[in-house]
Amino acid sequence: MASISPIYQAIGSIGESQFELQSKSIPGLTLRIPTSETIGDVVDILANKANSELDRSISDATTEELQSIARHWTTVDSPLSHVNFLVRQGDKPLGIAGLGWIGPANDEDEKQSERAGAAGVMIQPFARGKGYAYEALRMVFAYGLRELGLTEVWVGTHSKNVPMRKLMENKFGLLPEVSTDGLDKFGNDLQWTLKKDWLQPNV
Ligand SMILES: CC(C)(COP(=O)(O)OP(=O)(O)OC[C@H]1O[C@@H](n2cnc3c(N)ncnc32)[C@H](O)[C@@H]1OP(=O)(O)O)[C@@H](O)C(=O)NCCC(=O)NCCS
Repeated sequence: MASISPIYQAIGSIGESQFELQSKSIPGLTLRIPTSETIGDVVDILANKANSELDRSISDATTEELQSIARHWTTVDSPLSHVNFLVRQGDKPLGIAGLGWIGPANDEDEKQSERAGAAGVMIQPFARGKGYAYEALRMVFAYGLRELGLTEVWVGTHSKNVPMRKLMENKFGLLPEVSTDGLDKFGNDLQWTLKKDWLQPNV
């Protein structure tokens, strides 16, 4: 089943082996769920300290822990609790992007009818500054809000993470909420919230 988005072409559906999102702007740029063949690429990206220095969730992880995270990312559960993609151009791994957490948008909603996702992106140093993070992240936002029916997508980062702030502020044109009570459990003090209306003018 192919879905229609102005920014990506979806090949198949999540859970199918051929499933991938193909960028319509950057030739050859794809987002795919990692497999046993590509799990090593994910571990390499997670293990690169240049990628994780401001990400408390993985910066101190051992190789075994990173392998376990990468293995988890090869899985697709129902209802979805995460959707993690390997970002590639052709066969070349460039980074990772996705929704590392999907769950109830509101803790008090007992029926959990509204779901939200927490998005992130990581691009290897050699591939930075070429627009790959912007493209991968907007594909993730569009996929989550449009395809998965999430009511909100959240992005968190630490205020010292200038590249991520600039990506969100300058490129996406979105201002963060600044936490007044310290860092969250991932070490972040800034959060952006995208709602379905983000889809309208953008994608
Ligand atoms: C943040 C990160 C994903 C940006 O990746 P990238 O591919 O270089 O970003 P892009 O090329 O798509 O940049 C898009 C915009 O972001 C901003 N930006 C990116 N890197 C920047 C930098 N070093 N300094 C200032 N602005 C920057 C610019 O506004 C840029 O737009 P422009 O090229 O038109 O000026 C990358 O630096 C990274 O992987 N960092 C480590 C992991 C991380 O911190 N992830 C975020 C946590 S969710």
